[in-house]
Amino acid sequence: MTAKREELEAAIRRHNRLYWDVGRPEITDAEYDALVRRLKAIAPESAVLDELGPSRVGFVVTHTNPMLSLDKCYGADELRAWAEKFEGDAVVSPKVDGCASSIRYDERGRLVLAATRGDGAQGEDVTANVRRIRNVPKSLRVKHAVEVRGEVYMPLSVFERYRGEFANPRNLAAGALKLKEGDESAEYDLAFLAYDALGLAVETEADKLRFLAAHGFSVVAHEVVSPDGLEAAYERVAARRAAFDFEIDGVVFKTNRVREQRRLGSTAHHPRYAIAYKLQGDAGETSVVDVEWGVSRTGAITPVAVVAPVVLSGATVTRASLHHAGRFVALGLARGTRVEVMRRGGVIPNVERVVAPGGEPLVEPTRCPSCGGATRRDGDFLYCAAPESCTEARVAEFLHFVRILEIEGFGEKLVRQLFERGFVSDVADIFRLTAETLSGLERMGDTLAAKLIRAVEARREVGLDLFLRSIGIAELGKHVAGIVAGLGDLARVRTLTTDELASIHSIGETIAASVVSGLAAKAHLIDRLLAHVRVVAAPTREQTGPLAGKKVVFTGTLAKWKRADAQKRVRELGGETPDQVVKDLDLLVVGEGGGEKSSKQKKAEALKGAGAAISIISESEFSKLVS
Ligand code: IVH
Repeated sequence: MTAKREELEAAIRRHNRLYWDVGRPEITDAEYDALVRRLKAIAPESAVLDELGPSRVGFVVTHTNPMLSLDKCYGADELRAWAEKFEGDAVVSPKVDGCASSIRYDERGRLVLAATRGDGAQGEDVTANVRRIRNVPKSLRVKHAVEVRGEVYMPLSVFERYRGEFANPRNLAAGALKLKEGDESAEYDLAFLAYDALGLAVETEADKLRFLAAHGFSVVAHEVVSPDGLEAAYERVAARRAAFDFEIDGVVFKTNRVREQRRLGSTAHHPRYAIAYKLQGDAGETSVVDVEWGVSRTGAITPVAVVAPVVLSGATVTRASLHHAGRFVALGLARGTRVEVMRRGGVIPNVERVVAPGGEPLVEPTRCPSCGGATRRDGDFLYCAAPESCTEARVAEFLHFVRILEIEGFGEKLVRQLFERGFVSDVADIFRLTAETLSGLERMGDTLAAKLIRAVEARREVGLDLFLRSIGIAELGKHVAGIVAGLGDLARVRTLTTDELASIHSIGETIAASVVSGLAAKAHLIDRLLAHVRVVAAPTREQTGPLAGKKVVFTGTLAKWKRADAQKRVRELGGETPDQVVKDLDLLVVGEGGGEKSSKQKKAEALKGAGAAISIISESEFSKLVS
């Protein structure tokens, strides 16, 4: 009987595919229908009956909740800092280097949809191929819908068959998963490891994994550890690396308590309740071709080794970091020096050590590679002695400024041109640009020039916290700027002493000193900026007014407002108007001018589904709110 059923299922699958996906049926429709009727009679519960029709592989699937990526860290200090933010234990598991996938089961437990991660908001339908992965349960004994997330990977034992032909198992698995013809995908013997379940009413991460195991999933190896056992757990996973039948590129730590996870929430990119401690990547030997020196916005001149191409962890490497001048000198690099280079996670590879000396010695520059001015050494770091007038440093500072203030349209190419033509000499000059000057630049029409100027004009008034972040003082990031901005107005902030700042909980001595000296060093720039912008007290959520501190985005065609006016109104009321739907968005206003549901609205709905506190309101509700 079983043999009969399996034969029938295989035949139906094959003919279904020949008809729908290949377009070359081998039997008549009547013969095919007869096969299906027979299967229905002997095994009405057969999953094959749910699969009939064209394979939807390649279709777009919108995720119920965004599939975020993981924040990364590279050291025990960062890991400890992360763990301090929540209560209770963490769940530790290897970071499987495969293709993140989501598998949905309906309320009767049937596998109804499988999708790749894609860009996190939308992925690709790979249901037909995932159904053919042997260790994926095709149905669950549940009375409610469940979404299971995990990694589709190619076991290393299977990858042996393809070594030489393909760079790494991940790419091959991704390719096989997206193959249009299900049966062939199955030949790649992919496997699935589950690490998350959505739609369960449980209290801990460990409960979710127990649920998954109990329902027949292969679950990623894991351990529940207390905060002081994190590093040891990392070491245990790293030590098992060679024993896994899949590649791992890190160790994942997740807050165990679901309540704590909810409290921590997520940024637009990654949840705060999870972190990946990256393992060091492959190492290899190559030789140094040259050393390039780049200038950062603080004027630091940093060396990067240009090396002969070498393939590490599946990617060709031609540049490797040397961190700072001190390290360059300590290594004693020359042209042709043989070095060991290691990829750490996805970041720029690192020169680890010298294997054999080279010929023509390379020397530390005595002049700034950008402005030709003098340099100055401060410990291991080499600096341009006059970053205020050094073009590279100014370009980097400018790019930072426009990024923080979200002044759209000022990319690196444009900014370089502005400096080269002498249209700007520092960020303050951005406020002196006119549409006429801009429209003389390469690839710049009047419309674009006007748009850029409008983007600048919108920033004539800026909150203190953003202003502080925008001027590019080391250590003055979002968190610290928020605290500092709460201490008073800009005039007051400029008189803060290191002691005053350091007395604040969560600002240490080093950060306090860096902020104070940074403000002093940027005094001239701040004064120049104040000639053009009004710095207002940073709006806080506690301030009164319906939109104070709120982020508001408009979508669709507005019937009664000009979009720019509506945005202006929001800003007058203390709100912000980012261009895109962001995770910490407060309000999405949907225009009443008709049209299809926009991608902004879909994204906001998805984020909302994932727990973001976004309200979606109509244009008339907005009008009422601001009137
Ligand atoms: S937990 C935000 N656990 O790594 C998602 N993810 O870089 C938290 N991954 O897309 C997921 N192994 O697909 C988790 N043991 C593991 C994992 C794991 C691999 C993937 C995951 C995610 C990617 C983030």
